[in-house]
Amino acid sequence: MAIKKIMVVGAGLMGSGISQVAAQAGYNVIMNDVKSELVGKGLKVIAKNLDGQIKKEKITADDKNAILSRIVQSISLDDAKQADFVIEAAFENFEVKKSIFEKLDALCPPEVIFASNTSSIPITSLATTVKRSDKFIGMHFFSPVPVMKLVEVIPGLKTSPETIKVTEELAVSLKKDTVRVKDVPGFLVNRINAAFRAEVFNCLLEGVATLEDIDKAVKLGLNHPMGPFELNDAVGIDIGLNVFKTLYEGYKDPKFRPPLLMEKIVQAGDLGKKTGKGWYDYTSGEKKPRKDLNL
Ligand SMILES: NC(=O)c1ccc[n+]([C@@H]2O[C@H](COP(=O)([O-])OP(=O)(O)OC[C@H]3O[C@@H](n4cnc5c(N)ncnc54)[C@H](O)[C@@H]3O)[C@@H](O)[C@H]2O)c1
Repeated sequence: MAIKKIMVVGAGLMGSGISQVAAQAGYNVIMNDVKSELVGKGLKVIAKNLDGQIKKEKITADDKNAILSRIVQSISLDDAKQADFVIEAAFENFEVKKSIFEKLDALCPPEVIFASNTSSIPITSLATTVKRSDKFIGMHFFSPVPVMKLVEVIPGLKTSPETIKVTEELAVSLKKDTVRVKDVPGFLVNRINAAFRAEVFNCLLEGVATLEDIDKAVKLGLNHPMGPFELNDAVGIDIGLNVFKTLYEGYKDPKFRPPLLMEKIVQAGDLGKKTGKGWYDYTSGEKKPRKDLNL
């Protein structure tokens, strides 16, 4: 079946990004969330991103209008009846996702594939929420979706080869590169990154270098575009901590033990850019080192 219409469930950070790249690739998109304000907020983010692309002369104002016209707003899962492929990017909570997939399973024609953008819930267990476990797959995008090139494609235990093929082709048509990854805790990128970050925290705790110098060293010595603390602040320190928790629970390997300093700063309520303070202070509008933390 040719995919023409994609339903994206959840219009938050990831769902709006996925809707944007799908509409930009020429697909018709049904962008769904629980309230119209939330869908509207997602659309505003997309419009702003497209304005940025106009400024850089990557697209024209006409392109922007055409892209936005391909996105239909939805606050009812019933709209999934018209979709050829569904990508779920709702809250990272098994019960929330289960209730969405159960409803979708009853509504969508049997050939429709369901992909979840979960970061940590096993695909094989999410697939048990539907009768079509052969048509269930992980499609793990990275933030910000319009910028990051990678999609991890994660087959569950019962995902069919045809579902894998269709999903990989879809990701490529969204101008992404794919890697096929087994359904293991943290999948691939988050697992590798956590092992690296665990060492970053060891260095900080041992006083090997200052936090700012660790960021500088990783950028200039390893050519990472952002330092680990800057990245942690951008993504949300609570989200990063949850990755460690998932990995530690999954592998019982001490190398994935959630770093104590990360737990402390989350307990203090400083979660990164979104709260104004994290490893750095952003309250002035600029990134400044913090002098008030007893690290
Ligand atoms: N943030 C990241 O960097 C990142 C990266 C990769 C994957 N993910 C995964 O993507 C998913 C979404 O993450 P996010 O960062 O976009 O979260 P978010 O909180 O920004 O957005 C989630 C959206 O889902 C909506 N939602 C909740 N229940 C819903 C329902 N029943 N029906 C429709 N919409 C519903 C919420 O209203 C919210 O707008 C999660 O599973 C997360 O683990 C996140």
